[in-house]
Amino acid sequence: MEKFNKQEIDEKLKAGFPMEHRWHNRFHLEMPFGLINDPNGLAFCDGKFHVFYQWNPLGCEHKNKCWAHTATRDFIHYSTPELALWPDDVHDKDGCYSGCGTVEDGQLRVLYTCNRKEDGVRIPAQRFGSLKGGQIKKEDIIVPDHPEGITGHFRDPYLFTRRGKRYFVIGAQREADETGTVLVYEETAEGWKNLGEVQTRLGEFGYMWECPNLVQFGSYDVLIFCPQGLDERAFDRQNLYQAGYIAGHLSLDSMDMMQHTKFQELDKGFDFYAPQVLTHEGRQILIGWMGMPDKDNEYPTAEMGWQYSLTMPRELRLRQGHIYSRPAREMKDLRIAETAVELEAENTTAISRTLFDGSEILLDMELGESKEIVITIAFGAEKLRFIYDLKAQVMSIDRNEMRNGGRGVRRFRLFADENLSLQIFVDKTAVEAFFQHGEEAASLLVFPEKNIQPELTVESNGRLKSLSGKIWQLDSFK
Ligand code: FRU
Repeated sequence: MEKFNKQEIDEKLKAGFPMEHRWHNRFHLEMPFGLINDPNGLAFCDGKFHVFYQWNPLGCEHKNKCWAHTATRDFIHYSTPELALWPDDVHDKDGCYSGCGTVEDGQLRVLYTCNRKEDGVRIPAQRFGSLKGGQIKKEDIIVPDHPEGITGHFRDPYLFTRRGKRYFVIGAQREADETGTVLVYEETAEGWKNLGEVQTRLGEFGYMWECPNLVQFGSYDVLIFCPQGLDERAFDRQNLYQAGYIAGHLSLDSMDMMQHTKFQELDKGFDFYAPQVLTHEGRQILIGWMGMPDKDNEYPTAEMGWQYSLTMPRELRLRQGHIYSRPAREMKDLRIAETAVELEAENTTAISRTLFDGSEILLDMELGESKEIVITIAFGAEKLRFIYDLKAQVMSIDRNEMRNGGRGVRRFRLFADENLSLQIFVDKTAVEAFFQHGEEAASLLVFPEKNIQPELTVESNGRLKSLSGKIWQLDSFK
């Protein structure tokens, strides 16, 4: 277990990122080596946002789960990442799994799942820790094992408060029928008490729910979670696993999620999972993992020694039971003002522009006679397409014309009558798109063969009444 030498690993991190590689992102958090996944421990403390994430510093496999840590005041400048938490005792010897962050008396604390396997049997324990000197000091275990009626798949606690009392939601699998669920624990004078499952109207809904978050939007509660084992449908659930939510009112007396909406996905792209939300000064800030468990063969950077990135921070709003997501306003500071290119056209069927090495594209279209619009980001002969079918009211994202990495199409319903609006961020491999002012979002990765300036084209099968927008070059995270 001495394989995690903090000093050595931190030294290696200080050497910096080999940014010159054409696939290393500029404004998405990622690591110069190793595999990262879920964002963890999000907290605001000492005037800084703290971002932890799952990290295997020793390779690109899903093992050796540690936590990395970085901090930022503005989501643009980040401290050099450090190794913050790693398996070094019997309780978490098989991984420091996901968890959340909180601030107590000015001290940043985390609550995470200790993963331990004995003869193939999982013994998950939930444990607090405190960030001290760039490292999480492990503290008390508050739940030593899974409760009765729940299998060893019991992980990813997320703290929330209600009327001054603390609770956490945690992902779980029922023993009886091996289906997914979420439990709530309450802090009492005698310790943390299991209040049982959150009752929903979802019925059987996959075999495991990972990474729950319970977030309050005004008087509504939103339960975010990642169900595994749902079937693909025509316009949603098209990834191997989902990341979505139900909105309603959680009664902690009846443990019922009352009057909840249907399950909706937070993101319609190929590469989005295990998001975590931080509530700060009335903002709900989400960071997701741009990756998918059990799909590693779709991500060719492993050969170079690193794998995956996180999304940019997003701000969430709940309107009529639906979550809108927009890039956090801080992302505007990445725009290099002098580079702004105005897009302005009337009665047009096509425009094209060369993009920058890192771009933000804003597009607003009055649809006019158009029935189908194709927005292409071309990397030479390789193409990523967004295709909007007005009659069907369906957006498709097509990655089939990319040579490396995952392929396929993702389709989802998007309502546009007279106007279609998109905001697309194009990093070296990470693309994040926001549709109709945040009504839908999509995160995906592309691995272009050549390091060339991408080209944007917008084509319509009928005249667009107007097209306006802007393109900016974006700066790198610092
Ligand atoms: C989700 C997940 C969590 C777990 C962590 C381990 O991606 O499987 O449930 O805590 O990753 O890295």
